[in-house]
Amino acid sequence: MRIAIGSDHAGYALKQEIIAFLKDKGHRVYDAGPYSAEFCDYPDYAIAVAQMVANKEAELGILICGTGLGMGIVANKINGIRAAVCHDAYTARMSRAHNDANVLCIGARVIGSGVALDVVQVFLETKFSGAERHRRRIAKITALEEARTPS
Ligand code: RB5
Repeated sequence: MRIAIGSDHAGYALKQEIIAFLKDKGHRVYDAGPYSAEFCDYPDYAIAVAQMVANKEAELGILICGTGLGMGIVANKINGIRAAVCHDAYTARMSRAHNDANVLCIGARVIGSGVALDVVQVFLETKFSGAERHRRRIAKITALEEARTPS
């Protein structure tokens, strides 16, 4: 799978761990940065990853900051992005199965790397259920995006 990943300084160390995990599993990883743990601004990397997913350069995205919240707020501003902040396997699974989430946001100051890697694994291996009711609800989100900022 083609996966875009980005972080800020707070998520940098976990990003490096997740990249190694993904490569070990045979995924193609596009690292949008940062490339050091120096202070930086999470919107820059959230926008880069969200645009790669929205443009279909990557199938899924992963964003890591201190809480996951800033990344989720920014990524969800991009049409076509359904970003979910997940800190446990259940919400990671549901975000894919019910919401067809395409960007996973994690807070490196919220969970340790063991749980984070489980969350990543579950997010990647879970498929959208495709149930009519979920498609209908997602279509309403897409309609809202198009009404607000046509792509
Ligand atoms: C950085 O201190 C922190 O605010 C950031 O990583 C993130 O948690 C924002 O949502």
